[in-house]
Amino acid sequence: MMKLALIGFGNLGRGFSRVLLEKAKFLRNYGLTLRVIAAVDEYGAAIDEDGLDIKKLLRLAEKRGAVTAYPKAKKGKLALDVIEKVNADIVFELTPTNIKTGEPGLTHIKKAMLAGRHVVTSNKGPLVVAFRELDRLARRQGVEFRYSASVGGATPVIGLAKKLLAANEVHAIRGVLNGTTNYILTRMSKEGAPFDVVLREAQELGIAEKDPTLDIEGTDTASKITILANAILGMDAKLKDVKVAGIRRIRPEAIRLAQEAGYTIKLIGVAKRDLLEVGPRLVPLGHPLAVGGTLNAVTFETDLAREVTITGFGAGPRETSSALLGDLIDIHRSLGG
Ligand SMILES: NC(=O)c1ccc[n+]([C@@H]2O[C@H](COP(=O)([O-])OP(=O)(O)OC[C@H]3O[C@@H](n4cnc5c(N)ncnc54)[C@H](OP(=O)(O)O)[C@@H]3O)[C@@H](O)[C@H]2O)c1
Repeated sequence: MMKLALIGFGNLGRGFSRVLLEKAKFLRNYGLTLRVIAAVDEYGAAIDEDGLDIKKLLRLAEKRGAVTAYPKAKKGKLALDVIEKVNADIVFELTPTNIKTGEPGLTHIKKAMLAGRHVVTSNKGPLVVAFRELDRLARRQGVEFRYSASVGGATPVIGLAKKLLAANEVHAIRGVLNGTTNYILTRMSKEGAPFDVVLREAQELGIAEKDPTLDIEGTDTASKITILANAILGMDAKLKDVKVAGIRRIRPEAIRLAQEAGYTIKLIGVAKRDLLEVGPRLVPLGHPLAVGGTLNAVTFETDLAREVTITGFGAGPRETSSALLGDLIDIHRSLGG
C-alpha cells in the first residue's frame, strides 16, 4: 500500500486522480495499491488517512472549484502542514510553475524531503531554480525524487536518456519542447498566416495561454533546457545561462523561403556542455525534429547509439499523468516492489 498526498489539485491533480481511479486494477499487476490521503489547493485541504473517496472529491471539487467542498475539509494555506504531518509515502508537487523563485513548489519539495517523503513533481520552477540543491537533499535524506513530467509531458525524455541510454555519453540534446510555439509555427507554415493571427486563434482554442509571453519568447523552452542540462548532462545550469530568442519576429515569408529550400522553422532548444541556447532554427523537412502541431520531439546525440529521437505529447492532464504514474511505479520498483 502506498499513500499519496497531492499538493495542487488543478488540471493535472484532477486528471491524475482520474487516471488513478481508471488504473486501480491495472496497477495490481505491479503489486501496487494506492491511497490518496490528502488533496490540497490554495484554499484548503481534504484529508483522510484511510483514503479519500476520489470520485466524490472530483465531483465536489469540479462543482465548487476547490477541495474545501469535500466533507470535513480544512480551510487555509495548508500545504506545508499537510506535507509535514499527514503520513504520505509520496508527495506529488503539482502547483503552478514560477521560474523566478521556484515557489511555492520549492519549499513544498524541501519540506517533503526533510520529512522523509519521496517526491514526484511536474513543476519546472523548483527544478530550474534549485536542481542541484534538491538532488543533494534527496540523496542526503534517502528519498526518491522524480520529475519526468516537467519536460516533455507524456514523452519520456528524461527516462529515455537516464535509463535506456544509460550506456551512452550524451553529447548534445536538441528539442522541440514547447507545444504552443510549435502549433503556431506549424499553422504559419501550412497557411502562410501571420504570427499575430495564429496566436489569437491558438488562444481562442485554449492552446496558447492568455499571457503567452513565456512560451513565445522561448523562456519555457529555456526552462526545460536548463532541467535537461542538469538532469542528463550533470551540469549546474541556471536559466540565465541559456541564450534565448523567441518566435515573435518570424514572418510567414521567412517560413515560405525556408520551405522552398527544403526546410521548416522550429523553435529549438539545445543543451551541450559548452552551449545552452533556444531560438528559431532551420530544420530539414522530414527530419525527426520536424514534428507538427503541439507535439514535442527531442534528439539525443550520443557516443554509442549515435542519434536517438523521441516524439510525443508535451502536455494535457491525461497524457502527463502517464509520466506521473510512471514515476510512481519507478519509485515502487526502486524500493524493491
Ligand atoms: N497541465 C499539464 O498538462 C501540465 C503538463 C506538464 C507540467 N505541468 C505543470 O504541473 C503543474 C500543475 O499544472 P496544472 O495545469 O494542474 O495547474 P493548475 O490547473 O493551475 O493547478 C494548480 C493547482 O495548485 C494549487 N495551488 C496554487 N498555489 C498553491 C499553494 N500555495 N498550496 C497548495 N496548492 C496551491 C491551485 O489551487 P487553486 O486552484 O486553489 O488556486 C491548483 O489546485 C504546473 O507547474 C505546470 O506547469 C502541467
